[in-house]
Amino acid sequence: MLNLGILISGRGSNMEAILKSIKRNKIPIKPAIVISNKADARGLKIAQKFGIKTEVIESREFKGSRWEYDKKIIDALTRHKVTPQNGLVCLAGFMRIISPEFVERYRNRIINIHPALLPSFPGLDAQRQALDYGAKYSGCTVHFVDSGVDTGPIILQAVVKIKDSDTEESLSKRILAKEHQTYAKAVRLFAEKRIKVSGRRAVII
Ligand code: GRF
Repeated sequence: MLNLGILISGRGSNMEAILKSIKRNKIPIKPAIVISNKADARGLKIAQKFGIKTEVIESREFKGSRWEYDKKIIDALTRHKVTPQNGLVCLAGFMRIISPEFVERYRNRIINIHPALLPSFPGLDAQRQALDYGAKYSGCTVHFVDSGVDTGPIILQAVVKIKDSDTEESLSKRILAKEHQTYAKAVRLFAEKRIKVSGRRAVII
């Protein structure tokens, strides 16, 4: 059985959607650990309700390098058997850029969700960026993490139509509903070993 580690920083609604879906749909992966870089992340309480172990590795006052911080994450993942051999790491609103060393160790085993149709609107405030640009459609993207920001091979995308009346809040809400479905779907595909990466392309088999 694969082991899952989820990294969060806050609300944890994508994490919750993944945990619910694993339970409901009997996805063959064991949620082993939820790690937050913030002690007050709301998602920690949700994970505990699901009976999942949690750890906080505070990043705010951490003085070392990015890689030194990530080594602490890798240490926690390893203790919970989320390894480069049989682990999946989901970034679910984890508000830190991870080091190239971490990416390399867990190559094609770290996935992220982004609230826009990549490669459009990477980085922060993606919903705001789409509105400001005047895009007619946006959505969400689940992708493997590489050493760039929101640049890794795309696994799944879902489209959301932008209305003239949309605010950042209303658009974010509709995108978030799609994120929950799409992230859970991607975890299932990974757990069923149905994603093959070839260069930039992640092919679903
Ligand atoms: C989501 O919009 C996700 O796409 C972005 O950060 C937000 C996290 O929300 N990366 P949540 O913590 O999963 O509720």
